[in-house]
Amino acid sequence: MSVVTVHHLKQSPKVMHYIQQADRYLERIGYTEHGLRHGQIVSSLAGKILRKLNYSRRRVELAAIAGLLHDIGNLINRQEHPISSALLAKGLLEELGMPDAEVLDVVMAIGNHEEGQGEVTDEVTAALLLADKADVHRSRVRTRKYLSVDIHDRVNFAATKATLQVNPKERIITLRLTIDTAISQVMEYFEIFLSRMLASRRAAEFLKCRYALFINRVQLL
Ligand SMILES: [Fe+2]
Ligand SMILES: [Fe+2]
Repeated sequence: MSVVTVHHLKQSPKVMHYIQQADRYLERIGYTEHGLRHGQIVSSLAGKILRKLNYSRRRVELAAIAGLLHDIGNLINRQEHPISSALLAKGLLEELGMPDAEVLDVVMAIGNHEEGQGEVTDEVTAALLLADKADVHRSRVRTRKYLSVDIHDRVNFAATKATLQVNPKERIITLRLTIDTAISQVMEYFEIFLSRMLASRRAAEFLKCRYALFINRVQLL
C-alpha cells in the first residue's frame, strides 16, 4: 500500500493522458474547458475547504485527489460522467497502491459531484461539489464564436472573477463572482446555475456551514 498524493497523480503520464482525453472529447462536442486547468482549480479548492474547516491532512488530500480526477469520465461520454469518472479513478488509484478504504471514499465523492445526480453523505463529497461549482470563469470558454447563442459560454465568459472563501469561525462558505453585465445579465447566471447553487448550499450545510453567494457585491443567497 502507498500513500498516494495529488503530487503522485500529476507525475503519472497515464493520469495526465486521461485528463487530456476527457477535455479533448468535450472540446469536440462544444463544451467549456474541463481539463488540467479545471481539475487543478477544483483540486486545490476542495482541499482548501476541508483544511480551513480543520479536517485531517489525509481527508484534505483525498478531497484534492477527487478534485483532480472528477471529470475524467468525460473521455467515455458526457452522460453519466460522474459514474464513469469514479470507475476510471478507481483503476488509476488502485494501480498506484492506494488502500481500499481511501479509494472508496474518493470514488464516492466523484460519483456524486453533479447536482441532481447525487447525494452528499460525507465531507470529501461536499468539498468536491462546492469546489466544482465554484469554477465559473471566462478562461473556460474556448472560442468567442458562440457567445451570442450559447448561454453557458456567455455566462462563463462574463465571469471575470470567482473566489470561494471559507470562514471557519463563522462557518460560512462564500462564493463571490464578478460578472460583466455587458456580456450576460445576472438573471442568465441564475437561469443555468440555480440548481448548482442549491446543491452547493446543501453541501455547505453538510459541513455545518452556511452558503453565501455574492454577484457584483450584491448578496443573492
Ligand atoms: Fe463534472
Ligand atoms: Fe467539473
